[in-house]
Amino acid sequence: MQDKYYEFIEKINKITGINLSLYKEKQMKRRIESFIRRHGFEEYDDYYKFIKDDQNRIREFLNYLTINVSEFFRNPAQWDILEKDIIPNLISNNNSLKIWSSACASGEEPYSVALLLRKINFDKAEIIATDIDEDALERAKKGLYNEKIITNVPEDLKRRFFIKRKEEYEISDDIKNMVKFIKLNLLTDPFPKGIHLILCRNVLIYFTEEAKEMIYKKFNESLADDGILFVGSTEQIIMPHKFGFSSIKSFFYRKIS
Ligand SMILES: C[S@@+](CC[C@H](N)C(=O)[O-])C[C@H]1O[C@@H](n2cnc3c(N)ncnc32)[C@H](O)[C@@H]1O
Repeated sequence: MQDKYYEFIEKINKITGINLSLYKEKQMKRRIESFIRRHGFEEYDDYYKFIKDDQNRIREFLNYLTINVSEFFRNPAQWDILEKDIIPNLISNNNSLKIWSSACASGEEPYSVALLLRKINFDKAEIIATDIDEDALERAKKGLYNEKIITNVPEDLKRRFFIKRKEEYEISDDIKNMVKFIKLNLLTDPFPKGIHLILCRNVLIYFTEEAKEMIYKKFNESLADDGILFVGSTEQIIMPHKFGFSSIKSFFYRKIS
């Protein structure tokens, strides 16, 4: 395959607004080339011609690039810290909470937060959930999950808030109504303000260092004083002070005010 990667991603940026040069190159290139070959093409140009005027093909390509793998209460030990330490602390300092799940995939993460808040009977929270992938957001609104994805949901919450539908489980309207889903590209869109807790997990690993740093700074501006950033298990921030954060537990950072 001729090395036309940069030309290709520039054209993709023009037709989709997604700047793939801010994603780690080696990984992204390998993924794209394997996808192109799977469709029977050997050159970037030929594949670009194949998709450029066809919204379905463009969508299929983007869908493949945005890896939506997620599950409820992913890395349970970290959710335990969130439940027992971080959230009680935020509640004791704020009458109401504004929470943002910033790469929410098909809703598993923001719905986990909603379940946790229901569990502790806290009803003064606004939960915003965003992702770049419109198909994932549509799935999130439907709220249908297979058994494996909800494995970590405690049994009592499963019984209270999931309805069995054939092979899948639907999350109750009660929980659905607690979350507002919006399309947002972390690399280009403005961020919401006054947030008490940002979850940004298992997406920054795909971005270049430059993109990550830009996002850390924007998260800092997005947080209210003493707000918390919760990252994924391979995404510790190397020098949190540089971006206005102090590390309070592994994977949790507090905005320095
Ligand atoms: C692996 S999932 C992580 C889901 C969830 N946060 C978790 O930890 O289980 C990564 C998500 O990031 C989204 N994503 C990728 N690039 C993005 C961008 N530039 N802006 C917003 N979301 C993005 C993908 O669509 C995907 O849903």
